[in-house]
Amino acid sequence: MIALACDHGGFAYMRELKLHLDGRDVAYEDFGTHSGDSCDYPEFAERAARAVASGVCSAGILICGTGIGMSIAANKLSGIRAALCSDCFSAEMTRRHNDANILALGARVIGVGLMLKIVDVFLDTGFDGGRHLKRVEMIRELERITNCQDTCRTPTGTAARPE
Ligand code: RB5
Repeated sequence: MIALACDHGGFAYMRELKLHLDGRDVAYEDFGTHSGDSCDYPEFAERAARAVASGVCSAGILICGTGIGMSIAANKLSGIRAALCSDCFSAEMTRRHNDANILALGARVIGVGLMLKIVDVFLDTGFDGGRHLKRVEMIRELERITNCQDTCRTPTGTAARPE
């Protein structure tokens, strides 16, 4: 199951994306927005990213005007590796090397045809593992330390270093 979300900047492209996924028989859940009215992209990025982080969805695709806001917001959630891609090479490499679990796209940056090719590459490419697994584990460790700094304070206010 793929988690989808967009803001008003990505709404028209999201309709094209859903038609494409229907044609491929790819199941998805659409977390909105559901109109072209102006809205706040972090709200929709959060909804889709939570579904991916919790394991309800195996991956996500987010679309806003540039893809930047969506990717920044999604990457605030632990376990999310959102990659903003405007070309097929980046989409392939972020799956193979970063095990990216969310693809962010900019509707004001690329055309619909390129967007759909990028989506296909992202969905059809697996993680290489090997030496890249260690690096993804290092990202997970950074998340663990950051989460601990947010919640685990020593009496002096210095963040406790996790063991
Ligand atoms: C909305 O105007 C625009 O800011 C948004 O779609 C996105 O590009 C933000 O990063």
